[in-house]
Amino acid sequence: MLKSNSFKIFSLLFVAAYVVAAQKEEFTCPSTIANGQYADPATCRRFYQCVDGFPYLNRCPSGLYFDDLQKFCTFKDEAKCGPLATTPATVTEAPADLAKKCDTSECQLPYCFCSKDGTQIPAGLEADKIPQMIMLTFDGAVNLNNYDHYLKIFNGKRKNPNGCNIRGTFFMAHEYSNYQQIQHLGYAGHEIATQSISQQQGLQDKGYEEWVGEMIGMREILRNFANVSVNEVVGMRAPFLKPGRNTQYKVLEDFGYIYDSSITVPPVPVPVWPYTLDYKISHECKSGTCPSKTFPGVWEVPLNTHYVEGYEGGHCPFLDQCVLHNLDENEVLEWLQEDFSRYYEQNKAPYMMPVHTNWFQTKPLENGLHKFLDWALELPDVYVVTISQMLQYMTDPKELRDVSQIDAWKCDKNVAVASKPCNIWNTCALPFKIPEQNITDTRYMETCRECPNVYPWLGDAGGTGIQGRDSYIFSGPVQEADGEPVEE
Ligand SMILES: *[C@@H]1O[C@H](CO)[C@@H](O)[C@H](O)[C@H]1NC(C)=O
Ligand SMILES: *[C@@H]1O[C@H](CO)[C@@H](O)[C@H](O)[C@H]1NC(C)=O
Repeated sequence: MLKSNSFKIFSLLFVAAYVVAAQKEEFTCPSTIANGQYADPATCRRFYQCVDGFPYLNRCPSGLYFDDLQKFCTFKDEAKCGPLATTPATVTEAPADLAKKCDTSECQLPYCFCSKDGTQIPAGLEADKIPQMIMLTFDGAVNLNNYDHYLKIFNGKRKNPNGCNIRGTFFMAHEYSNYQQIQHLGYAGHEIATQSISQQQGLQDKGYEEWVGEMIGMREILRNFANVSVNEVVGMRAPFLKPGRNTQYKVLEDFGYIYDSSITVPPVPVPVWPYTLDYKISHECKSGTCPSKTFPGVWEVPLNTHYVEGYEGGHCPFLDQCVLHNLDENEVLEWLQEDFSRYYEQNKAPYMMPVHTNWFQTKPLENGLHKFLDWALELPDVYVVTISQMLQYMTDPKELRDVSQIDAWKCDKNVAVASKPCNIWNTCALPFKIPEQNITDTRYMETCRECPNVYPWLGDAGGTGIQGRDSYIFSGPVQEADGEPVEE
């Protein structure tokens, strides 16, 4: 069905791109392999999606602008218009690859998991006997622009086959976030993870202190203003999916995180399962900044590239980066079904659906996702879970008939990762010194807690106004707010 439509849609896309291109100078993709989004030099309302050297012209959904830094469409006052000068990649010596190839006789669950090509099912289970997990992940700030859209997905009516609510994973960025809403998400049992405070570019080449400042600082802000329990924040995702080589993983290990989800897998015929970093990564590292050392027991939940064979949606780790803007909701549904079938009909690797806010600014995309979820949840073996729930499954894999034994999947237990939120919150107008510019702006921040003195930022997660106040030292077990060591 989809394939028969694909030529027609391809032609439409092509014509649209051609017509506009004819009116102005041709846009040239930087190279035939540099797939990705590029700002339209003429206007911030448009961007090009380069797929194998061909530039497809795209318009941002109505009212949105292309942010050349984050490479997606967003609200005008949040968008950094391009083209931005690309910071030349610092030439670093390719680190000696210190990790060895996967040794399945040595690598045993629950602490270690790998396979030669990354596609093997854990514990040697058969695909038709295990559940198919789907993970919805949301990147960036949570605020009025997206919160209601998120609640429509988690509407309390969508249930897994065991009767429990579906849940998602939120990789939080600080700027423009509403902590009252984040607290609601945490209270409802969604997983809260960290992406950074400032979304700074080039973080992959920065040092240990910068990574601590961004990730542990974000975790502290979540604790301070959304009362998210520090011990429940166990995942991180690097800004722009640029992992920070060995440095990021050292921070992850030192500060009690369990997994990273930043490494992308190139388009492959059979998707890759999550793995631990005890051994060399089995697939190509497209970002070029993957860890080279081993980090025993640390999980990588990679982003398999989404694509539909023979169809012009492009290739994308984030779903909103594929070229689906011209499809209607049924075509979006079919595209997702086709992409999903590569998992469901083969090795049932967990199907991650990573999106940014702007997916929800285009009705056919939003409705297509709703239709997909309703369709998928009709399947008897599909579970929509958080990344932590997925990893708990992987450490002790079960057949479908035994999933009732998986503790983390039960819904009779307390799932909240944040305390009960307030009904009446503070809207704080806070001075914010824009970094590297000599101006002070105002940022609004909603929280159930008291307003801080200034907008929380790097080095001052409490918003005290004393810059560089925070210094996080790796000191063993994580302490909770009241200073009591937490007992497991
Ligand atoms: C924050 O959470 C802790 C436990 O999760 C709770 O005891 C405390 O009362 C909460 N604080 C506020 C201000 O809600
Ligand atoms: C920043 O602005 C203040 C007051 O406008 C001025 O005194 C100061 O020299 C400026 N600093 C820099 C680094 O431009």
